[in-house]
Amino acid sequence: MSITLKTADEIEKMRAAGRLGAEVLEMIAEYVVPGVTTEELDARCHEFMINTQKTIPAPLNYHGFPKSICTSVNHQVCHGIPSHKTLKKGDVVNIDITVIKNEFHGDTSEMFVVGEASILANRLIETTQKALYLGISMVKPGVKLGDIGHAIQTFAESKRYSVVREYCGHGIGRVFHEEPQVLHYGKPGTGITLEEGMTFTIEPMINAGKRHVKVLSDDWTVVTKDRSLSAQFEHTLAVTANGFEIFTVRNNETIEPTYIPPEHFSS
Ligand code: MF3
Ligand code: CO
Ligand code: CO
Repeated sequence: MSITLKTADEIEKMRAAGRLGAEVLEMIAEYVVPGVTTEELDARCHEFMINTQKTIPAPLNYHGFPKSICTSVNHQVCHGIPSHKTLKKGDVVNIDITVIKNEFHGDTSEMFVVGEASILANRLIETTQKALYLGISMVKPGVKLGDIGHAIQTFAESKRYSVVREYCGHGIGRVFHEEPQVLHYGKPGTGITLEEGMTFTIEPMINAGKRHVKVLSDDWTVVTKDRSLSAQFEHTLAVTANGFEIFTVRNNETIEPTYIPPEHFSS
């Protein structure tokens, strides 16, 4: 399969699915507190998606994934499986939501701090969100994916963090994961050239320590090999005639769906 360019009608459906994905994160935020289990968060999101939104939780049974959301705590990088384990004060957790509405996917994730977190954790989270915004701000027709990967990598490494290589952003639409692969590292001037109508995610995973990861024996949970903290944010977006449109913006984000000059990210 090659890259699918979405029609105006398909973009409208992506917009709706993206908003619903963001709405699940907005809904769950107040429940991410000390003592809650990630299974309880999963159950609440599942119930909300099925009964309130009438969306389908895409992760459930996806290649055998057993739950409706991914919850990745502390040194877990991604694809954490909700469990009976409780969150405690100082934990940081990524919640990754993918909904399907009218056949189209909206995929988005956010970091949550449980109670309050260390200065180190907060700094990693802030840098990771800025790395996502930096990548997004570069999206417009004519730009190459390698330019975006390079910018994200350079920014993360300038903060002495590392970028996970094994997992990447992806084309998305009727299919959860489609072409292209959106790497969060790379060389300028390489990779495919963006065109209006492409829809994909950007979802950098940034580690406080080394970049290397491994998959636990549950066959899903990805963790840092050195057990250092890892953070991730994800948005689903489209390439528009002059830039981008983010489909999964939340009401706790100040980001404007317009170009953000790279200077903004230099500190
Ligand atoms: N939402 C993840 C992504 O950003 C994929 C999760 S697949 C699952 O691509 F099976 F782990 F749920
Ligand atoms: Co994704
Ligand atoms: Co996701």
